[in-house]
Amino acid sequence: MSIVKVLGISGSPRAGGNSETLLAEALKGASSRGAEARMVELRASDIGHCQGCNACFSDGECRIEDGMSPLYELVAEADVIILASPVYFSGMSSVMKQFIDRCQSLWARKEVLGQRVGGPGRRGALISVGGQGSPVFRNSISVAKSLFNSIDVEYQGELTAADVDSKGEVFDKPWLLREARELGERLVDRSDAAP
Ligand SMILES: Cc1cc2nc3c(=O)[nH]c(=O)nc-3n(C[C@H](O)[C@H](O)[C@H](O)COP(=O)(O)O)c2cc1C
Repeated sequence: MSIVKVLGISGSPRAGGNSETLLAEALKGASSRGAEARMVELRASDIGHCQGCNACFSDGECRIEDGMSPLYELVAEADVIILASPVYFSGMSSVMKQFIDRCQSLWARKEVLGQRVGGPGRRGALISVGGQGSPVFRNSISVAKSLFNSIDVEYQGELTAADVDSKGEVFDKPWLLREARELGERLVDRSDAAP
């Protein structure tokens, strides 16, 4: 078996916040199963808006050169992708959404040019954290599924955490840390990464 590559994408503007803490736990779980795990913190990546120019329709390449440029390869070569975002106004953070919109060139590779994005058996999941007692998770889940579907990643489910608001509050709910770790383990155990 080749080593499973796991890419964790943190979409919180808050360094070391609740969603990022859960993502780090998931990546620890993945590493414990022998995966090569890596986290990208989008807030530090200087990613601009998709401009809807559709230039990527001709070759699957985005014309904007910025912090997103090195991420295309990481996204395409990952066997497992875990998105982590706080709930902001009942959806994902703008930091995460900006990254997702810039994956339009990968969408174009698949949907316009008929190419595969990445290898076979790619898997993905979402970690979503909200401060309210009953946050609206469904919009974030829907966007995550839409992205994964567009980049040949099979959606494996989500870890949602409600009533987690101030920074570090997630540590008061150790079962969430455990669930995150198990999520990372499970995603690697089930990975069909090419031998
Ligand atoms: C701009 C903004 C919008 C938010 N909107 C929601 C919301 O709609 N629903 C909710 O449950 N929590 C909302 N929250 C609370 C965050 O989801 C919560 O603080 C979460 O723990 C932040 O995760 P982080 O530490 O990973 O950044 C919002 C927070 C901010 C700053």
